[in-house]
Amino acid sequence: MEKIVVKGGNPLKGTISIKGSKNSVLPILTAALLASDGVSVIHDVPKLSDVYIIIDILEHLGAKCSWDGNTVTIDSTKVVRLDASLNCVGDMRASFLLLGPLLARFKSSEILQPGGCAIGVRPIDLHLKGLEALGADFAQTHGVIKGSTQGLKGARIYLDFPSVGATENLMMAGALAEGLTILENVAEEPEIVDLANFLNNMGAKITGAGTNIIKIKGVPSLKGTVHTVIPDRIEAGTYMIAVGAAGGDAFFENTISDHLKPVVAKLREAGVTVIEEANGIRIISEGSKFCKGLYIKTMPYPGFPTDMQSQLLAMLLCSNGRSYVTETIFESRFQHIEEFRKMGADIILAGNTVALTGVDKIYGANVNATDLRAGAALIIAGLYAEGETHVGNIHFIDRGYDGLVENLKALGADIKRAKFDE
Ligand code: UD1
Repeated sequence: MEKIVVKGGNPLKGTISIKGSKNSVLPILTAALLASDGVSVIHDVPKLSDVYIIIDILEHLGAKCSWDGNTVTIDSTKVVRLDASLNCVGDMRASFLLLGPLLARFKSSEILQPGGCAIGVRPIDLHLKGLEALGADFAQTHGVIKGSTQGLKGARIYLDFPSVGATENLMMAGALAEGLTILENVAEEPEIVDLANFLNNMGAKITGAGTNIIKIKGVPSLKGTVHTVIPDRIEAGTYMIAVGAAGGDAFFENTISDHLKPVVAKLREAGVTVIEEANGIRIISEGSKFCKGLYIKTMPYPGFPTDMQSQLLAMLLCSNGRSYVTETIFESRFQHIEEFRKMGADIILAGNTVALTGVDKIYGANVNATDLRAGAALIIAGLYAEGETHVGNIHFIDRGYDGLVENLKALGADIKRAKFDE
């Protein structure tokens, strides 16, 4: 079994480059299935276990996929199967993003009820209701969801909640549906805009991505295209917060500060210096002890991202005063609180709000990642804890960070992967 071992105390200094966005590339890879002509060439694909799973599924369906560095080429012109109900799919929620493309191009789909990080119930009703409004029918038996349609037709769909995945699925389905699709109360995340750009370059007619209303004029077919994935704002934010927590002076290239406004604002409010430059962001900090406590409430984009609250909380464990973090997107996203306590944090959970009082010191401990971002948060705490922190369950971290240990090491952290007996 592998763990990540961090010895606290080193400030982070230097420059690293941010990889392509996980949450962008997953729907983009599934959207490549929509091309009935030509190949799709996707640059800046991060090497993550979730990406490998999606590519395995595309290959299982008959698409030809190849890697060259961080570029993936996909030829989906000869897809032969429509069942993506492989066992590995159950582990990853993003596999649900195959439904829209399969139904739109082939009128049939079969997937397992998807899994994902253990951060809540994560229902899929909005995806299914939206696709039904476009003319799909679903039957669910023994954890398998089978979909079929006579042919998707454009419709007006209002989402009860601006779900990122449902917006993406419906955008992909609407791209090949007959007539006009209008999606209202949709997600406005940069990853939605990236997917819309990819689809439009394939020949789709999508307007409004990045606002809460998206309009799609269906086209009869789409073809492969070339695309570079946007930088991962959550990866960038994680490293920025790591510098805020451990102290230091580091620059993050290939970062779009516009995508990180709420994180930049909270870092500044805590007293961390953030310098936004043309091709990246520089962070200067004296460490957690010099940070002020914060009030944080997670919200859909452009609000403070749920994917960043664990890391920001990790930065505040030794801060001055009290912090309150309220989670409004996922109901089970505070499972790492217990792990922070093992490190000496003064933290309590009441309902969906955490109250934290900064302590003088935190200490290395044996802790376990409880989800992807919680794993990153435990490493951030380990960077300034006294002694060694051993983080287990690191398969969660490998789902979303390409080269986390190497990057932190390059910035001067004392961190390694190590094998342990069960
Ligand atoms: C995506 C991101 C994830 C991020 C989340 C919120 C990817 C691959 N993952 O996840 O990193 O944390 O957005 O920013 O892009 N919901 C329903 N019914 C549905 C769908 C969602 O009730 O059919 C609820 C969820 O339970 C949750 C909320 O809506 O409470 C947000 O979920 P959603 O935006 O769909 O998140 P994901 O697309 O799964």
